Amino acid sequence: MIKIAPSLLSADFSRLQEELKMLTQAGADIVHLDIMDGHFVPNLTFGPPVIKALRPHSDLVFDAHLMVEQPSDYIEPLHEAGCDMVSFHYETEPHADRVVQLIKKYDMQAGMVLNPSTPVEVLQDILPALDFVLLMSVNPGFGGQKFIPYVTAKVKRLAELIERTKSSASIEIDGGVGPQNAASLIAAGANILVAGSAVFNSADRAEMIRTLRNSQ
Ligand code: DX5
Ligand code: ZN
Repeated sequence: MIKIAPSLLSADFSRLQEELKMLTQAGADIVHLDIMDGHFVPNLTFGPPVIKALRPHSDLVFDAHLMVEQPSDYIEPLHEAGCDMVSFHYETEPHADRVVQLIKKYDMQAGMVLNPSTPVEVLQDILPALDFVLLMSVNPGFGGQKFIPYVTAKVKRLAELIERTKSSASIEIDGGVGPQNAASLIAAGANILVAGSAVFNSADRAEMIRTLRNSQ
């Protein structure tokens, strides 16, 4: 089952409630929420208070992607804001196991994110504890960037590692995803496709979500 997770980063920030409703009507499975702190990445977005305000307006799965230093500070607030999935970057946290346990303590799905240049093998030991892994296919910070081609091979290596470690983690892919690469990413083993500009820049968003989901 392939799930499509449009990223709210590409939405019109002055109309977030309507954009969220539009995503539900267009058939999205998940809404991807990019939380940036201006330190780990050179951009600043929104945080738990904005997510909390949006929560009553949607039944979609809320997927928080933390691009922040000290991710552990955000776990309880994200739970209170109503998030279902939370992921943080390997590159930001020396005590990753502790943060994974904290996310699970709040009954949310726990994920870890890797930058394009970080090899998947660093997750080998923690994989069985993860609900999902998010592989970045652009350098995090901005929507609308070009897909980095070598990440497709990483998806494949991660899928093999998941099998070898008897993990049941899903593979989410984020950055520059669109109809031009969705089929090869799904073939490599990705099950959740994040798409920001591909969905929001499309004239028919429902059709784009269907196209991405049925790519093979
Ligand atoms: C980038 C974010 C992505 C971004 C994807 O740092 O993590 O989620 O919104 O946008 P597109 O699909 O336009 O690359
Ligand atoms: Zn993201």
